[in-house]
Amino acid sequence: MSTRPCLHFTPQEGFMNDPNGLVQSNGLWHLFYQWNPTGMEAGNQHWGHAISRNLYNWNHLPVALYPNEDGGLMFSGSAVIDKDNTSGFFKDSHGRIPTNTDGRIVLIYTTHYDDRETQNIAYSQDGGITFIKYENNPIIDLNESQFRDPKVFWHEDTKHWVMVVALAQKFRIAIFRSSNLKNWEKVSEFGPAGILGSQYECPDLFRLPIENTEDHRWVLVVSVNPGSPINGGSITQYFIGEFDGITFTPIDKTARIFDHGNDFYASQTFSNVLNNQVISMGWASNWSYANKVPAEKYRGMLTCPRELSLRSMPLNPEAQELVLVQRPCNTEALKHPLSEPYPLELQNVAEFPPTFMCGSRFYLCATIPLSAAESEKLEFLRLRWSATSDVLNSKQYVELGYRFSDGAVYIDRGSCETSWKDPMYSERSVSNLPPIVIDDKLMVDLGILMDHSIVEVYGNHGGKVFTNTYRFSEEVEGSPLKYYYLELPQAAKMVKANVLPLF
Ligand code: FRU
Repeated sequence: MSTRPCLHFTPQEGFMNDPNGLVQSNGLWHLFYQWNPTGMEAGNQHWGHAISRNLYNWNHLPVALYPNEDGGLMFSGSAVIDKDNTSGFFKDSHGRIPTNTDGRIVLIYTTHYDDRETQNIAYSQDGGITFIKYENNPIIDLNESQFRDPKVFWHEDTKHWVMVVALAQKFRIAIFRSSNLKNWEKVSEFGPAGILGSQYECPDLFRLPIENTEDHRWVLVVSVNPGSPINGGSITQYFIGEFDGITFTPIDKTARIFDHGNDFYASQTFSNVLNNQVISMGWASNWSYANKVPAEKYRGMLTCPRELSLRSMPLNPEAQELVLVQRPCNTEALKHPLSEPYPLELQNVAEFPPTFMCGSRFYLCATIPLSAAESEKLEFLRLRWSATSDVLNSKQYVELGYRFSDGAVYIDRGSCETSWKDPMYSERSVSNLPPIVIDDKLMVDLGILMDHSIVEVYGNHGGKVFTNTYRFSEEVEGSPLKYYYLELPQAAKMVKANVLPLF
């Protein structure tokens, strides 16, 4: 039985990395991705393509972009809907404009050669199934070898297209604008700032609402690889600020970390989303070991789709701090059966014996008062799982926990693989999760989205998120069922703990 995740996107075969061209069109979610269909390591980059109605069940479509005949590879980029036909691409052979404006998808991507990277566009005349590369590509050529990952969006206030794109090894994000997606003018630059690492990649810029207010701020996301302060590998940071269509002005120089786990990189938000939700997906891996993790048919996966917002948190009695909030999107969709049914319906944590068995995917939310842990003298809240039933004595397991003494969340997958070891993979990831106040009580809040090979932890109602992949070796990976050991304060069960059944 396979370790293929069910709630997380994976390619049918070959190697995948970044999500590309995320866009909603005619009620469907389109997902493109960096894909090597012919090998199990990065290289030979194509744009793979899939569509979904609910962001969790995906149908694979034919390759959207093949490498150029001259060897140019299809590197990361984005997609927009050119509703008003600003590009002039959307005329039929009689010169008429097809009426379905929401199907006018334009892809903006990097063509990579060893000594040069340029920005290019392609468009679809069949509503997003096949793509035609623009005859006058490239649209931007700065004669640079490290210039990639264009993310384009429509800036309503200035009525222009805006592109953020990385001058990777200059640690700058260049901002361009255009009225027709073909001719671009550079208007400003951001950086160097924050975590530099060896290079900047995959920028994204979008406006987010601040929870419980009418206010908004702009967020600039910049991926960095290698150079993560967490583990030295790949990391995604963000800056909060203002954007006037020309310049991004950060509120401070603080680099904030998007996801505190080991497996989150090159995230991107969807464009053209109905009701202006901001939804993001990231690549759930790390360049430090992405090409090495054990794999048979395919390698790589994406995180689940997350809805983003900002939250104002008290920093001290005088000051507030804004933080990015992420929540798994459309969890209602998770309630419906996906593929094969599983025998056990999870109802409530209170009914779980400490060791329980269930399908490998669920979404569990628990809010635990710190006082309960104290009165029960509990050191940890922890969930440990393995593929064999004696979880606590299993040689291979993953443990996810919260240490009450110092408020640290940890994920330990160090025993996961015996045949393959990478120190960065094996090291415990640890990060603090400050308690929150609910009804005058100090609480720790955790949402755990569990799937085959990947677990996402949403701390403090999405205020701090951790994504880690995991993998048990083949001998123990015979069944899709996993066994779980859960240790919670007794009192927590009465406060608020529930499981969203998936099957
Ligand atoms: C990020 C990245 C991008 C590049 C792509 C190539 O993971 O290195 O900068 O466009 O992957 O696959």
